[in-house]
Amino acid sequence: MAFGMSQRKEVAVITGASSGIGLAIAHVLAEKKTDLILTARRRDRLEKLAEELKQKHGIRVDIIENDLARPGSAQDLFNKVQAIRKDVSILVNNAGFGKQSAVLDHSIGDVRDMVQVNMMAVTELTWLFGVEMRKQSYGRIMQLASVGAFQPSPMYAIYSATKSYVLSFSYAMNSELKGSGVSVTSICPGFTESEFHEVAGHKKTAFMKASTMTSRKVAEISVRAMMNRSPKVIPGLLNKINSYIMEGMPRAFSTAIAGSLMKK
Ligand SMILES: NC(=O)c1ccc[n+]([C@@H]2O[C@H](COP(=O)([O-])OP(=O)(O)OC[C@H]3O[C@@H](n4cnc5c(N)ncnc54)[C@H](OP(=O)(O)O)[C@@H]3O)[C@@H](O)[C@H]2O)c1
Repeated sequence: MAFGMSQRKEVAVITGASSGIGLAIAHVLAEKKTDLILTARRRDRLEKLAEELKQKHGIRVDIIENDLARPGSAQDLFNKVQAIRKDVSILVNNAGFGKQSAVLDHSIGDVRDMVQVNMMAVTELTWLFGVEMRKQSYGRIMQLASVGAFQPSPMYAIYSATKSYVLSFSYAMNSELKGSGVSVTSICPGFTESEFHEVAGHKKTAFMKASTMTSRKVAEISVRAMMNRSPKVIPGLLNKINSYIMEGMPRAFSTAIAGSLMKK
């Protein structure tokens, strides 16, 4: 039996499965005998992971190479998934990235890509798969937000705002879907070991190193919350405490604190 008392074969699409949290979520779901459709840009990594998971767990694993920064790529991904199988019951919207920079020092390309990957693609995929899940009265969607969702974050202004958007729309959508058999769970990790900070060009400070969680731990907490249909989870006690304080604080203070933690 895959999950609890359910007899249903779970089938999950995971975006950003080639590294970090998405890769760890693939392992956790594979251990629960969930069939997987893995997607990211780095095909070689997906192929290697798919082979490993098939051999270890005897599940079906398909891969789709896709660049979510390209407008229209969410629809393409959905079409490719539908051509493979129509029984997707889990969508993990994990792909995302940030760059440590003041807004006007980003390239316009990075600005477009961040908004496209972190917001547009997430919203489109949620709608496309959500409509199918609602027809089946069954499904779960996991959204990777961030503790950055709780306050404006100088030097990560656009990234942080995209995560506020993800948390806000996902939380509201979960409320709309109450009783439908479909749920949306937002995950708000703090610093997590992955390739995120390398991609962001962010040198880790002592505070970051001390409060970093492993991708595996974040994945376990996230999958549990999604299976329980929780609206939101903040992995780790320190992250929970920090987020509640930041969210409740006047914006000028939380922005100043985030700015001092995120400065180069
Ligand atoms: N690490 C943290 O401290 C932290 C904290 C809070 C929230 N998060 C969020 O957690 C999620 C996962 O990040 P991570 O920490 O695991 O970072 P990561 O190791 O850099 O993984 C990011 C994943 O997203 C994929 N991706 C990036 N751009 C893409 C694109 N244009 N098209 C398709 N896939 C793309 C990457 O695959 P390819 O490069 O192969 O395409 C990779 O698999 C992100 O949404 C991130 O914002 C991370």
